[in-house]
Amino acid sequence: MARGRSVYEREVLSSLMQTWMPFVPESASTMSWKVDALYFFLSGVTIFFTLLISSILIFFVLKYRRRSPHEIPRPIAGSHKLETLWSVIPFMISMAMFAWGAQLYFEQYHPPKNAVEVYVVGKQWMWKIQHTTGQREINALHIPVGRKIKLIMASEDVIHDFFIPAFRIKADVLPGRYTTEWFEATKPGTYHLFCAEYCGMNHSGMIGSIVVMEPREFDNWLSGNSSQQSPAVAGQQLYQTLGCVSCHGPAGEGGRGPALAGLFGSQTTLANGQTVRVDEAYIRESIVNPQAKLVAGFGPIMPTFQGQVTEEQLVQLTAFIKSLQGPSVHPAAPATSASSPPLRAPSPQVK
Ligand code: CUA
Repeated sequence: MARGRSVYEREVLSSLMQTWMPFVPESASTMSWKVDALYFFLSGVTIFFTLLISSILIFFVLKYRRRSPHEIPRPIAGSHKLETLWSVIPFMISMAMFAWGAQLYFEQYHPPKNAVEVYVVGKQWMWKIQHTTGQREINALHIPVGRKIKLIMASEDVIHDFFIPAFRIKADVLPGRYTTEWFEATKPGTYHLFCAEYCGMNHSGMIGSIVVMEPREFDNWLSGNSSQQSPAVAGQQLYQTLGCVSCHGPAGEGGRGPALAGLFGSQTTLANGQTVRVDEAYIRESIVNPQAKLVAGFGPIMPTFQGQVTEEQLVQLTAFIKSLQGPSVHPAAPATSASSPPLRAPSPQVK
């Protein structure tokens, strides 16, 4: 893929495509022109072969029509050369589609490490959004242009789907687990947000807007809404009130549960000998179903918190555990003493 193309060239390319083809939604992310290019390639191949096959068909019908009532056609023995050609060429074309599509899929489903994280909780029938700095929004998401944003999403009830046509991204939002999607907006403006999975009576009303702002404007917006508590701070309070602290000291105090500082992003060995990477999904599962992936060296003594914490509180607990970076794991992170976990959520730029 042409990675070297400038933003300007991409803009020209995507606006050209929009003038050629009707019904193409506005293109406003780094992903959208790539998805469009693949889409136009697929459409082009389809149109080309539809025309080619229909015209050959019409031509043959006319050329080889029966001219007299007793005409007997000449026998045809077949042609290996032709058969090989019409098997190999479509095979190459479909493999090219597969490779191109798979490459885009992997790009879209593996968020970059330096992305700014935003938490999304879907419920019948609204989107609840929280920034790592604490700002909450409902049915709206404000983001700066030109910065990579990763959405960490869960549902409180049924399956929803977070769809931003102008960014060409879409992912299911599921109850009981986290899904992610990421994007980098290229143009300031307001774009549609849809729920793209039928989720009950007001599914069609589960819509909102994505407001893409210039970075400076966004920083103003962010500071104008800064009175709210960050998810990490709220998570720390839950960590105290739910009593997690008595078994899970950040550095392993309590001795009955694994240490939490530096845990996020590390590999941990389970009681059954397997290794898992500690990510959002693993933390969430370990809170609601602690016995599912028991860490080696610890007994199955943790009670489940299923039903005791809401999806938003799970997000907060996860954000708190993520904020406890161990100095050994993340040497670049600000030094935190293990006994006093940092109260301030890491700034979006650093994450
Ligand atoms: Cu939520 Cu459809």
